[in-house]
Amino acid sequence: MSSETRKFRSAEWFGRAGKDGFIHRSWMRNQGFPGDVFDGRPVIGICNTWSELTPCNAHLRALAERVKNGIWEAGGFPLEFPVMSTGETNLRPTAMLFRNLVSMDVEESIRGNPIDGVVLMCGCDKTTASLVMGAASCDVPAIVVSGGPMLNGKFRGKDIGSGTDLWRFSEDLNAGKMTLQEFTEAESCMHRSAGHCMSMGTASTMSGMSESLGLSLPYNSSIPAVDSRRSVLAQMSGRRIVEMVREDLTLSKILTREAFENAIRVNGALGGSTNAVIHLLAIAGRIGVPMTLEDWDRIGRDTPTLVDLMPSGRFLMEDYCYAGGLPVVIKALSERDMLHDDALTVTGNGIAENCKDATNWNEEVIRPFDNPLVEQGGIAVLRGNLAPGGAVLKPSAASPHLLRHRGPAVVFKTIEHYRERIADPNLQVDENSVLVLQNCGPKGYPGMAEVGNMGLPPKLLAKGITDMVRISDARMSGTAYGTVILHVCPEAAAGGPLGLIEDGDVIELDVESRRLTVDLSDEELARRSARWKPVLPKLNGGYQQMYVQHVLQASQGADLDFLVGCRGTAVPRESH
Ligand code: FES
Repeated sequence: MSSETRKFRSAEWFGRAGKDGFIHRSWMRNQGFPGDVFDGRPVIGICNTWSELTPCNAHLRALAERVKNGIWEAGGFPLEFPVMSTGETNLRPTAMLFRNLVSMDVEESIRGNPIDGVVLMCGCDKTTASLVMGAASCDVPAIVVSGGPMLNGKFRGKDIGSGTDLWRFSEDLNAGKMTLQEFTEAESCMHRSAGHCMSMGTASTMSGMSESLGLSLPYNSSIPAVDSRRSVLAQMSGRRIVEMVREDLTLSKILTREAFENAIRVNGALGGSTNAVIHLLAIAGRIGVPMTLEDWDRIGRDTPTLVDLMPSGRFLMEDYCYAGGLPVVIKALSERDMLHDDALTVTGNGIAENCKDATNWNEEVIRPFDNPLVEQGGIAVLRGNLAPGGAVLKPSAASPHLLRHRGPAVVFKTIEHYRERIADPNLQVDENSVLVLQNCGPKGYPGMAEVGNMGLPPKLLAKGITDMVRISDARMSGTAYGTVILHVCPEAAAGGPLGLIEDGDVIELDVESRRLTVDLSDEELARRSARWKPVLPKLNGGYQQMYVQHVLQASQGADLDFLVGCRGTAVPRESH
C-alpha cells in the first residue's frame, strides 16, 4: 500500500481498476518494473534532450541515470522520455526555428502522459528555453538540470572560448594574421570535453537565467559538465523534484513577476546573451506574467556587469565555477537591494536564502561592485523611426566609441546578398558606414538566424578596423561581440521601416538616449512603404509554413501566437 497521503495526477492512469488500469500498468511492466511502483507514488518524467546530433547535450543520457537514482531514493518513480533536441551547430536552417516546435513536444508529452512532475534536462541554447516554455504551459512541478559547460578551451598556452575566439580567429584568417594550419589546429583545442559552450554565450546565460528564476538548485549553471559535482547535483535534483510534487510546488508559484525581474538583473550582472530577452519574454508569455522589452531596459540599466567572462570579458565558465558561480553574483545583488530576496525557488526557500553563504574566491573573475567590468550592463532597448517596435543592443559587448554614431547605410537585402557583396573590393564602405541587413527576422529568415553580427568587409579588416555599427532584424550568437543592433521590430519582412532603408541613408545611433533613427521624413518613409514589396522566403509547406503564419515578433518572444498561455494538465479526452 502506498504511504502517500495525496492522490497524484498519475493515479488517473496507474491507480485505476479494471481494463483501463490493466492497460496502463501491464504494458509498463514489460520494462521490468515491480508492481509497487504503481502504488500511488509520484511519477517523475525526465524530459531529455540527449542526442548525438546535439554535441552539447550528448552526455545527458548518463546524467539522467543520476537523476533517476535521486528519484528512486526519494520514493518516486522515474520515467525518462526523449523530445526533439536542437543543437546550434548542426541544425539547419537555425535551431531557433524549432524552439517552439520542441516546446509543443514537451507540453503535449507532459500533459498526455501519467506525469506528476518533470526534470528538464537541458544544455545547448534553445533546449533550455523550449523545455521551460513547454513545462510552463502545463504548470507542473519542474526542475532544470543543465548539462553544464565544457572545460576551458586550451590553444598554444592560452585559454580560448567557444565561439568568441572562433569569431576572432576567423577575422584573423581573413585579415591574413593567422594561417589555415593554425586555424585547423585550434579546432580540436577549443572543444575538448563534454558540455555546452564555456563562454557566457546563450547556453550559459540560459542556465544562469534558470537558476536566477529559481528553477534549478544553486550552482546548476556553473559546475562543469565533467566535474563530479554535476552528478551530485543531478542526483539531488532527482530527490528534490519528488518532494516538490508532494508540496505541490508548481511552476507558476516560482515563475512570478518578481522572479523575472530578478533574472533580468542577473542577466545584466552576467553580461548575458541578447537571446535571453526573446526566451524570457516567451517563457513569461507561457506562464501568464506580463513582461515587455521596456522591463529589460529599465530593470537592467543600472545593473553593473560583475562577471568578467567572454565575450564581454576575459575568463570562462570553468574559472567562474571555481570563483563561486552564480550564488556569489546573487548574494552581491541581494546585498545592494537589487533583488526580490523572497522570490521562491525549487529549494522551497527564497533566492537570497539559497545564496547567503556564497563566497567569492576570485575577484578578478567575479568582480566587486566598486570595480565592475561595465558600470551599466544590461540590455539597451532602442527605439526611433527605424525601430518603432524596439531593437536591442548589448552595451558590454559593444565598442564605447560607437555607442554614439552617425553614418551612411550599406544595405544588404538578404544574408545571401550580404555574402555576395561583402568581399567586393569596390563596395562603397568605410569604417563610418553602418551595415544594414534586412529580411533575417522571425518571418524573413524563418527562425531568425544568428547572422546579425555580420563580419566586416575584408578590406576594412586588413586596415585594422575591428568593429562597425551593424543593424538587423536577426539575432546574434551569445558568444559574439561588437556594436550590433539586433531584433529590430517590426522586421523587414513584416513591413517594418528597416526594409525601407537604402544605400546612403544616414543612420543615427545614440545608446545613451536609447535612440535609433534614420534621416528620412515621415513622408519619404510613407512613399517608400507604398512601393515596398516583401522579400519572402521560399516555403515548401510543413512546419515552416505554420511557423511563418503564426510567429510573433521578437519583442513578443517570437512564440507562435496560438502557443502563448498556460493550458494546464487537464486531458480533454481519455483513450479507452
Ligand atoms: Fe551548444 Fe553553444 S553550440 S551551447
